[in-house]
Amino acid sequence: MFGKRGEGGRGPANFDQGGGAPPRAAGGVPVFGHVGELRRDPLGFLRSLPAQGDVVEVGLGPVKAFVVCEPGLVRELLLDDRTFDKGGRFYEKGRQVVGDGLATCTHDRHRRQRRLLQPVFHPGRLPGYARVMTEQAQVVAGSWSDGLVIDVDAQMRKLATATVVRTLFTPHAGVAAETLTAVTHDLLRGLDWRLRNPVRALERLPTPANRRFRRAKEQMRKAVEQAVAAYRRLGADEGDALWVLLQGSGDEGLDAGEIHDQVLTLLIGATETTTDTLAWALYLLARHPGLQQRLHEECVAVTGGERPPWFEDLPQLGFAEQFLTETQRLHPAVWVVTRRARRSAILGPYALPQGATIIFSPYLVHTRADLYPRPEVFDPGRWADRPVRPSVDGTYLPFGAGPRKCIGDRFAMTEMTLALAQIAQQWTLEPLDQAPVQPRARVALTPHGLRLRVRSRT
Ligand code: HEM
Repeated sequence: MFGKRGEGGRGPANFDQGGGAPPRAAGGVPVFGHVGELRRDPLGFLRSLPAQGDVVEVGLGPVKAFVVCEPGLVRELLLDDRTFDKGGRFYEKGRQVVGDGLATCTHDRHRRQRRLLQPVFHPGRLPGYARVMTEQAQVVAGSWSDGLVIDVDAQMRKLATATVVRTLFTPHAGVAAETLTAVTHDLLRGLDWRLRNPVRALERLPTPANRRFRRAKEQMRKAVEQAVAAYRRLGADEGDALWVLLQGSGDEGLDAGEIHDQVLTLLIGATETTTDTLAWALYLLARHPGLQQRLHEECVAVTGGERPPWFEDLPQLGFAEQFLTETQRLHPAVWVVTRRARRSAILGPYALPQGATIIFSPYLVHTRADLYPRPEVFDPGRWADRPVRPSVDGTYLPFGAGPRKCIGDRFAMTEMTLALAQIAQQWTLEPLDQAPVQPRARVALTPHGLRLRVRSRT
């Protein structure tokens, strides 16, 4: 079923090389295409596609999209961002929330923005960020009491939001973070609905949901403006993300609208994904008491149990890293994204028309049985003798790959490893019942409504 390496579209995509049309996925109905399948069971539908082809056409209402299933072709797609640019439904609707920041901008604007933001994520800054990450994990885990039932999403969101604000924006974006916490629900619900609603005109109707979405966007815009104004007044060089962004402003740099979009991109990009991934990790700890115990023992062996885990401990927290790597294999927060073909192109043996929407799904790749035997089984041991860094062969993509790979991947892994280790050292997590939580595949893949009981280890 894999594409034939070395043939057809390897190397830069070129329509002149020829190629056939990808097969159409089974099922679907006239006009609506596969919208029904995607609404009922999006994850099951995605898992069914690799058996039907390396690239498979699906119908999203009247629009055709092409799902890339084979890892080598996914890699090719992601590496050639000139041909396969940001676009398609996911990003077109995403721009309504975060504007035209680093994650959503098209190729022509990307390199400059990435160059500008890269210093914020320089590995040399990580130890400093990690001190804040450790503190924030202590604040959150230290606020629990024996027997408490925690709302996992709320707790992990608190941790993720405070961490990104205190590391990337120092105190100046506090107001923006508070507003973000208050309006995220309305923003993401509005985005989710826009992703699934095929009739654009409905977005403009004065319905209560549309009004809530617009109000949330306006509140966010004002909060970011206030944060930037406060920073400019202080004029301090904190060396953080906002300072870097303001350095880039001026004739050649970013205008006020662009700065707003970058701030929002970083706040949302950093909080939603880490919140969901950590929530899944806590769920899996609770469901696997043996693994939970092993993680606890690793942390105590490293820290002596008397102090929190630190940045310098990371090389010794190998099992914690494997645990998170496997969490992201089975439950990648970013489970599906889209691209737009800027010109007619060849991908493997297939021809894709100019303007085509192309979908890649880390979830689909991560649950292929030929890559991960018994893919539904959570087994951190899979990574014991495999490199746990994102692979370059397209088989492991929680952070994407190529020029548009997540700029915050190391930041996120550091934050999540320290938080998970801190929690496992101090607490035992218990499910409230034995029923597995159902993944909710909306903008992100979330363990919706997850609550767990915490028991003190001391
Ligand atoms: C578990 C945590 C995270 C996950 C799973 C994740 C996942 C991803 C993925 C899959 C992409 C690529 C999307 C595509 O190719 O279309 C991406 C891009 C991006 N992420 Fe993350 N991310 C995480 C954490 C973060 C953090 C902590 C930050 C910032 C502090 C961040 C900021 C960004 C930005 C700005 C981009 C766009 C990069 C570009 O296009 O150059 N992410 N992320």
